[in-house]
Amino acid sequence: MSRAEPLEGLRVLVTAGPTREAIDPVRYISNRSSGKMGFAVARAARDAGARVTLISGPVNRSTPKGVWRVNVDSAEDMQKAVLQYVPDTDIFIAAAAVADYRAKEVSPRKIKKAGDGLSIELVRNPDILATVAGQPEPPFTVGFAAETENVTDNARAKLVHKNLDMIAANQVGHNQAFDQDDNALTVIWDEGEQTLPLQSKRSLAMALIGSVARLYRSKRAKGERA
Ligand code: CTP
Repeated sequence: MSRAEPLEGLRVLVTAGPTREAIDPVRYISNRSSGKMGFAVARAARDAGARVTLISGPVNRSTPKGVWRVNVDSAEDMQKAVLQYVPDTDIFIAAAAVADYRAKEVSPRKIKKAGDGLSIELVRNPDILATVAGQPEPPFTVGFAAETENVTDNARAKLVHKNLDMIAANQVGHNQAFDQDDNALTVIWDEGEQTLPLQSKRSLAMALIGSVARLYRSKRAKGERA
């Protein structure tokens, strides 16, 4: 029996953090993602023996040692960077909280206040995860789902709809998941699911990487993966 690490020799690509969608030179739309989970996943994949690239939105975090980091701002920037690395990726884990919408037009000048209200037209951002999973030869693809209710049902629907290998679902709400140190996940794939109970994001990421490695290897053994 080989005592190799679970992800030895594999290339893992992780997205993390929020994206920032500019409105004008001083304002943007973003969200409360801290990047904690994505960075923990990158570190856990590294510890499991993988070569890791981390594509991060704007967060104030140091890069885990030995991880190659690419900083991006907007969803479109993140998508460009991801698609650049995907051909050299075995496992893609999308932990970023990508903004679903961006301003249709970014004002080149600071918008001055006028009147009582202001409308900004928003347009949909590309779905990076679905784009990767829809490639002709996609890597093993893992998504996250943040749900406030019907957590497993909604996540399973996303697994099917986005054509993913695995999805990690978490319950979100006030003081749950976002910017917290602890989290719990339900990991879901086509033939099963596993609950990873409340624990630090660091140990949760290690458990998640364990599940990813097991399913990746079992699909490979069945010939469903190169
Ligand atoms: N994702 C992405 N690109 C987007 C939106 C999301 O790659 N433009 C990825 C996230 O990184 C995460 C998963 O997709 O892995 C989340 O899926 P999504 O359908 O956006 O889930 P929710 O944010 O929970 O969306 P909804 O509000 O539609 O339930």
